[in-house]
Amino acid sequence: MTARVALVTGGTGGIGTAICRHLAQLGHKVATNYRDEAKAKAWQDAQRKEGFEFALARGDVADPAAAEAMVREVEKQLGPIEILVNNAGITRDTTFHKMNALQWQEVIATNLGSCFNVTRPVIDGMRERKWGRIVQISSINGQKGQYGQANYAAAKAGMHGFTISLAQENAKFGITVNTVSPGYVGTDMVMAVPEDVRAKIVAQIPIGRLGEPDEIAYAVGFFANEQARWITGANLAINGGQYMGW
Ligand code: CAA
Repeated sequence: MTARVALVTGGTGGIGTAICRHLAQLGHKVATNYRDEAKAKAWQDAQRKEGFEFALARGDVADPAAAEAMVREVEKQLGPIEILVNNAGITRDTTFHKMNALQWQEVIATNLGSCFNVTRPVIDGMRERKWGRIVQISSINGQKGQYGQANYAAAKAGMHGFTISLAQENAKFGITVNTVSPGYVGTDMVMAVPEDVRAKIVAQIPIGRLGEPDEIAYAVGFFANEQARWITGANLAINGGQYMGW
């Protein structure tokens, strides 16, 4: 297997950490970004103790200039980015009639704006080298909508629109662009949903439990594989059966 350089945004989070570790286990060199240096260094140290070495670069993915600087820093440390996973995301859940402009803008900028901000400085190199793997981490709620998430669902649905356009533009350059749409995974983000609301959501999952971060990371490794070269513009739903669109 060819070792590649991978950038996973939001790699210190629940799903992000599992993606970083899985790509490292597949033999890739992996970097992630951070906003809080102390928190990121503590994460890096904890991962190192478990045998994982990850590169870190400062950068808020919601800010175009900061995201470009972050990409250049990763390239300086590890080399050209060959696998990009747009995973960073936040929630600001509230019903739309109570939502303020900041709650809308923060979610759109971080979850969807980041796809432009991080992919734009990476795409030219991938096109020149004629190889690339880009994976968006979207959400079940981008597919089905969610009470209290007009901002988040709009951003997550937008991510797949981004995927299928980029997939068309870059197919001739050996670059595949795909989406993974996780359902409710047992991360801090999902555990922040009030317990009674969460219990009702779990009751809607045929497999009968929340997902595990590794179960999402596995799909990212699949799309990143050399042999996944004819898979582009796809959306892979991984949600325990909660939503079965086709
Ligand atoms: N469908 C229909 N009605 C609903 C509903 C739903 N899914 N959820 C809530 N309601 C109703 C309630 O029954 C209640 O009705 P009444 O006023 O008639 O009693 C009304 O809406 C208000 O509900 P709340 O009291 O809960 O309102 P709130 O303002 O306190 O909170 C909320 C609303 C923020 C949306 C809260 O319900 C919530 O956090 N819901 C979960 C949202 C969610 O799933 N977020 C996902 C986070 S994880 C993630 O995003 C990762 C991923 O990709 C999956």
